[in-house]
Amino acid sequence: MKNFFSVRDVDNVETIVREALALKADPYNEGNLGKNKTLGLVFLNPSLRTRLSTQKAAMNLGMNVMIMNMDKDGWALETQDGVVMNGSTVEHIREAAAVMGEYCDVLGLRSFPSLKDKAADYSEDLFNKFVSFCGVPVISLESATRHPLQSLTDIITIMEHKSTVRPKVVLAWAPHVKALPQAVPNSFSEWMCRAQEEGLVEFVVSHPKGYELNEEFTNGAVISNDLNDALQGADFVYVKNWSAYKDYGAVYSVDESWMMDNEKLKLTNNAKVMHCLPVRRDLELSSEILDGPNSLVIKEASNRVWAAQVVLKRILESNN
Ligand code: CP
Repeated sequence: MKNFFSVRDVDNVETIVREALALKADPYNEGNLGKNKTLGLVFLNPSLRTRLSTQKAAMNLGMNVMIMNMDKDGWALETQDGVVMNGSTVEHIREAAAVMGEYCDVLGLRSFPSLKDKAADYSEDLFNKFVSFCGVPVISLESATRHPLQSLTDIITIMEHKSTVRPKVVLAWAPHVKALPQAVPNSFSEWMCRAQEEGLVEFVVSHPKGYELNEEFTNGAVISNDLNDALQGADFVYVKNWSAYKDYGAVYSVDESWMMDNEKLKLTNNAKVMHCLPVRRDLELSSEILDGPNSLVIKEASNRVWAAQVVLKRILESNN
């Protein structure tokens, strides 16, 4: 593995899940693989889980870790070429990324979308430039359109907790008060569509009209605008809000009937409920579910370590 940006960086989902679960069973087995190697984690946006789980995964492999909060501690970045830098930007990404690549053997980058300019966000210009200029392997810690470490975690968690050969997995849109990126649902969908192709899951996406995701990510999924119908017989429900893709960044309403609660859970096959976190209680997902026996959210967050560790392991093995 050279870089980790999407499901396309993985040949076979089932194989990488098995490898991650083997690391979970024996976390320090590869404790020297990363000896004298440095991971740099670069954040342009906040993070709890991604920051700590990736750091822990790297330490399990014997790596050194440096963290740069670029949004707070770095110079204001210019990302466009041909700009006379006589405004607020201080350092060009060409130099900034190249310098970080001199200090690190592997880099991780988190950068959220603007949600204002669809073409710019979906071009992944910043992530691609970072990869081009840093000269070392790059792991996405969530980019404008995808969150692959989260999605790998999610399929690990589903495979670990499934009680049928091919569980029904429903991605259920949930209400929110802010315009959130499509990165998590895009990424979850592309990983689930691949898992469906491999015969691992049956995948349904449910959202109100207007919240259609880019079809590039949902190709192969059943799409339903009727949540109660979608939930029938579900084994896993993945709750997540996102803003509109077509009317880019729009939030139409906070429709409370889309919040997942115990009444809706009765429609399912006693489904396990997942969320990437952070979650807004009793807006996106009811407290009764979060505090109840069907919630997998803490176990899911715990599995972030094994997703990060298997990705780092593969990158270190490929680049040793
Ligand atoms: N799920 C997730 O990526 O959490 P953080 O934003 O806290 O890293």
